[in-house]
Amino acid sequence: MKEKWSIVELKIMRRALVLARKGLYGAHPNPMVGCVIAKNGRIISEGYHKEFGSLHAEIMAINKVKDKSMLEDSDLFLTLEPCTHIGKQPPCIDTIRQIRWRNIYIASEDCDKRVCGEGIKILRKDGFSVRFGLLEEEAINLNKVFFTFKIQKRPFITLKAAVSTNGFLAWKDGHSKWLSCEKSLIEAHKLRAEADGILVGRETVQNDNPELTTRLFKGRSPKRFIIDRRNKLSLKYKVFEQKSPVTYYITTKRNLHKEAQLAKNGHKMIILNESNNKINMEELMFKLHELDISHLLVEGGGKTISEFINNSLFDKLILCVTPFILPQGRGFAFFNESNTSHPSLALKLIFQKNIGQDLWLEYQLLKEPYEFA
Ligand SMILES: NC(=O)c1ccc[n+]([C@@H]2O[C@H](COP(=O)([O-])OP(=O)(O)OC[C@H]3O[C@@H](n4cnc5c(N)ncnc54)[C@H](OP(=O)(O)O)[C@@H]3O)[C@@H](O)[C@H]2O)c1
Repeated sequence: MKEKWSIVELKIMRRALVLARKGLYGAHPNPMVGCVIAKNGRIISEGYHKEFGSLHAEIMAINKVKDKSMLEDSDLFLTLEPCTHIGKQPPCIDTIRQIRWRNIYIASEDCDKRVCGEGIKILRKDGFSVRFGLLEEEAINLNKVFFTFKIQKRPFITLKAAVSTNGFLAWKDGHSKWLSCEKSLIEAHKLRAEADGILVGRETVQNDNPELTTRLFKGRSPKRFIIDRRNKLSLKYKVFEQKSPVTYYITTKRNLHKEAQLAKNGHKMIILNESNNKINMEELMFKLHELDISHLLVEGGGKTISEFINNSLFDKLILCVTPFILPQGRGFAFFNESNTSHPSLALKLIFQKNIGQDLWLEYQLLKEPYEFA
């Protein structure tokens, strides 16, 4: 029978979810987790997982309570099941079991195979009143990046492009600086801080010589991935000259000299097989999972983004629509007559916002191909 939750229980778990979201830029590839401790409906402490490798939410909240006797018979609200294994932190379950909680509320199960319901089982076996599923959908939605990564064993993929109102990512001659307005550039760097990895194609490196870092926003810069199937790029670009963050050079033929040059700056070469002049995307996903890239941001250009769309290999598409109409330009490669074989993709608009003079549209890919009537 579905549990009935009181207004107070719902309010407190909502607070825990708000706290969890504060880990958006720091926790990945770990999940975002929030914790609230309440006594008779009154909040006595709070915590969240701030940085990858740092204290877990429940430990932060418990540590904050000076008078430990206050914890007895209080309620523990967790947005994610407590961990039972030694990771970068000791298992939270060991600390939780030492306190006589009135109730332990857990919104969602941890799909990490090292946990996977084990935390809930242990607490129930200990005789704790564990109440599961309070705002479960919201808690799962909050961590869709983490759940995609753990369950599908591939990164959660966000495609992002700034486009003119008539759909071009760049002028015909390849220059695209700047379609986006100042505020959108800052927003783009915030997006980078949410991701573990950022990927662009060869021509974007050649045309824009980008750094792909989070210079305009205080946050962790993602690891950089450059696709250059035919080893055409020289290494005189910022993504190779800068020592950090690490750059992974994705190609199909090993070039020992280039690999040695890359290694001097701490960068690495990834060799993948190719099929139909394209790198094998499945192999790429496997490699990214191996490198703990839970969230990949694909920032262009049009050809690179199109390859992910052609494979329906993305979860979110972000378009920054800029108030320009370009006479001619470079768009998404799949926007051409010949691509009739590809099924129509349906998207769900999940968010839109005005940033300066630009309109940001955030879409979620609906997995079922769409049949127009
Ligand atoms: N408005 C924006 O948001 C935005 C963002 C980024 C870039 N840009 C602009 O877009 C332009 C570049 O875009 P573009 O579409 O011409 O080129 P691109 O996507 O940057 O690079 C395409 C090249 O990358 C390699 N590549 C990419 N994906 C591949 C895959 N899956 N398998 C194998 N190789 C792959 C291929 O190189 P090979 O041909 O060697 O195989 C391909 O020709 C530039 O003008 C840049 O300024 C705009």
